[in-house]
Amino acid sequence: MPLQLVFATNNRHKLKEVAAKINGEIQLLTLQDIGCDQDIEETGSTFKENAGIKSHYIHTKYHMNCFGEDSGLIIDALNGEPGVYSARYAGEHGNHAANIKKVLEKLKGIENRKARFVTVISLIWNKDEHFFEGAVEGTIRHQPAGNGGFGYDPVFQPDGYDITFAEMSMEEKNKISHRAKAIEKVIAFLNKA
Ligand code: IMP
Repeated sequence: MPLQLVFATNNRHKLKEVAAKINGEIQLLTLQDIGCDQDIEETGSTFKENAGIKSHYIHTKYHMNCFGEDSGLIIDALNGEPGVYSARYAGEHGNHAANIKKVLEKLKGIENRKARFVTVISLIWNKDEHFFEGAVEGTIRHQPAGNGGFGYDPVFQPDGYDITFAEMSMEEKNKISHRAKAIEKVIAFLNKA
């Protein structure tokens, strides 16, 4: 029987990206799989805190090995915004078009477009909590491009590429993304555990 691990998210894009990395020896379970229909509130002020809130919620209630993930976009010229507020930067949670519009308006006329995506994962494995991080550097485009991915993908161009995350296939994004890097660390940890 493979190792089971619950991913504490309702974000189907994140789930798809992570499932594509974790296959085979680890069976990834969704909140739906374990009968949890709760939208776990992100009340923390850091990615680490929010990741921990999600994993602890599931572990306390279901006593299963699990992980929570929190991620976001950090833009240098905006003093790190949208940061932990990435999902609700323009007000409404998950309104990606409005969030992108706000970012582009705030960056109007600003030359420094350096940004990074970051992910923090809180893994609860055999009752102990472990943190893993991943980041990818890039720049914010002046106009959105591409239909793939989610969130800020249409305006994020990773360093070393001339296309945005939204113009990449999921496989391509999954080789270099913040989330992919953090998940690779989780897999390496579990392979040794
Ligand atoms: P949360 O981790 O559920 O709080 O949401 C993270 C938010 O950060 C998403 O709603 C997106 O706005 C943004 N974000 C995180 N990862 C990505 C990504 O891989 N691509 C684009 N946007 C992302």
